[in-house]
Amino acid sequence: SPSAIIAPSILSADFGALGKACSDTIGQGADWLHVDIMDGHFVPNMTFGAPVVTKIRSHVDRPKEALAKGTFDCHMMISEPKKWVKDFQKAGCDLYCFHYEAAVNSTAAESPETQSDKKTSPKELIKYIHDQGMRAGVAIKPKTDVSVLCDLLDNSNKDEVPDMALVMTVEPGFGGQKFMPEMMPKVEALRKRYPELNIEVDGGLSEKTIDTAADAGANVIVAGSAVFGAQDPADVISKLRDAVEK
Ligand code: DX5
Ligand code: ZN
Repeated sequence: SPSAIIAPSILSADFGALGKACSDTIGQGADWLHVDIMDGHFVPNMTFGAPVVTKIRSHVDRPKEALAKGTFDCHMMISEPKKWVKDFQKAGCDLYCFHYEAAVNSTAAESPETQSDKKTSPKELIKYIHDQGMRAGVAIKPKTDVSVLCDLLDNSNKDEVPDMALVMTVEPGFGGQKFMPEMMPKVEALRKRYPELNIEVDGGLSEKTIDTAADAGANVIVAGSAVFGAQDPADVISKLRDAVEK
């Protein structure tokens, strides 16, 4: 497997002091920052948009190499993933991870932009993200079959192939939910087929559940409440890393 990447989710950080939370977390040993973008439509909760990402980006050095320390991993829990690609690139997103379900099933109406958004297939959206100079990730919700990711990953046109697969281990929308071990067969299937793929798991990861995820083959570990709720976040980050690397 590729090396361990620990990506604390700033959803559980203090939103009143988010810039400092970002720089502190990187200082405590985090590789990436996982930035949860929710629109109150794709998921029943809202967070923030590109203007906030612009402001917090300046608190963390932007990586010169792709996917290196300081990467902003933006998890786009939004109904119109194509519409926000350019804004997030300008704001400092490095890895734009959209939901497969949103790309194939855009329910938003009316405006010309949304019309064009509707017609964007996941592979076209991946290419569009790459064209803007970002890496692309594709996320699946618990009820979505892993085969949709394999179909994208097996494409021989590299521009259309995702750089990361995100297997959700809770229903997206909220931090602090219970890890779903029944998602592990998806991770196992991906790891077996794609030994070098960055496979991210998100939801309910902690010192209690990390071994299950690591044994299945996940290497990119998101953790919100486990890191930001800890007395010693650096210790949690290092324990998560050790579990993946053991
Ligand atoms: C949930 C978000 C997660 C969330 C994880 O929809 O995608 O990134 O912050 O939080 P924990 O680690 O607390 O489950
Ligand atoms: Zn997330």
